[in-house]
Amino acid sequence: MGRESSKQTILEIRDLEVQFATEDGAVRAVDGVSLSIGEAETLALVGESGCGKSVTALSIARLVPEPPSRVTGGSIMLEGVNTLAMNSRELRSLRGAKVAYVFQEPGSALNPVFRVGDQIGEAIRLHRDLRGGAVAAEVLRLLKLVGIPAPEARMREYPHQLSGGMQQRVMIAMALASRPRLLVADEPTTALDVTIQAQILSLLLDLKERLGMAMLLITHNLGVVAQVADRVAVMYAGRIVEEAPVEALLRLPRHPYTRGLLDSIPKLGLGAERLSTIGGSVPHPGEMPPGCKFAPRCSIARAECHLAEPALEEIEPGRKVRCPFWKSVS
Ligand SMILES: Nc1ncnc2c1ncn2[C@@H]1O[C@H](COP(=O)(O)OP(=O)(O)OP(=O)(O)O)[C@@H](O)[C@H]1O
Ligand SMILES: [Mg+2]
Repeated sequence: MGRESSKQTILEIRDLEVQFATEDGAVRAVDGVSLSIGEAETLALVGESGCGKSVTALSIARLVPEPPSRVTGGSIMLEGVNTLAMNSRELRSLRGAKVAYVFQEPGSALNPVFRVGDQIGEAIRLHRDLRGGAVAAEVLRLLKLVGIPAPEARMREYPHQLSGGMQQRVMIAMALASRPRLLVADEPTTALDVTIQAQILSLLLDLKERLGMAMLLITHNLGVVAQVADRVAVMYAGRIVEEAPVEALLRLPRHPYTRGLLDSIPKLGLGAERLSTIGGSVPHPGEMPPGCKFAPRCSIARAECHLAEPALEEIEPGRKVRCPFWKSVS
């Protein structure tokens, strides 16, 4: 299913490079990443721990601490404005307003000493021209929007009085308070119980449809991707290795790494013994192999894969893969 090109581009990341200063010198955590997200579109960013998903996402609003990090290349256009060129005042007004974040641990992101309604109200006052009773009405509307039952009572409670799922709904309400153009959800369900995960996911899906927001959804769970995303970008060792519309990617992955990720999803009705994992581990950023970064773990790697890194190539419209042997992936 192709995306209509008439849709406005909300986010356009080009050739992003982010380095970290470490004791062993500078290491590149994000290396030449390009991504774009259109209006009302959800792009999922997937890949194993440490591949650079959060650093990529946090770079949009320059939330990676500098130092130790440094953006060494690329551009990040959010509604046509390069956030990498913004000064600190411009960044402060960008954060929350145009791009809002929802993270894994809702409990630690909420302030324990303020009532949840006051925290949402503060986010509203910070970004919008509402005051007094209009703020309270908006708090109620947002709590209803994110599916919190009895919102009039809940808004007067403190974070510890809410369950993890309800806390995450409050975080989502706070993120929506400014009516952002882009919502970044970084592992929004990982810290929650399985049944609650499904509820938060269906909330995100519902919000995306009702509000027409652009969303960058970070997860290492491809099951989550299938439910919520329009397109998927797969990262490995700081690079994009595959990008495709969600149905195409799940039906027929073209990069051996994506194949490996898909094979490690538990399948209904099959025992755990059928579950395979990708052998080996992600290379440390300071010890990158010279050729394809996945070659040491790849079952179809040839001698040349260890010598030079393949380019990310467009193999059909909307579909890119960083593997010249993608036809051998099945
Ligand atoms: N403060 C830091 N100092 C040094 N290196 C860092 C720092 N933060 C991140 N990195 C490095 O950047 C790389 C990318 O990290 P990132 O947090 O983006 O991974 P991720 O894909 O989000 O992983 P996860 O799934 O575990 O959240 C990692 O290899 C990590 O070691
Ligand atoms: Mg992360």
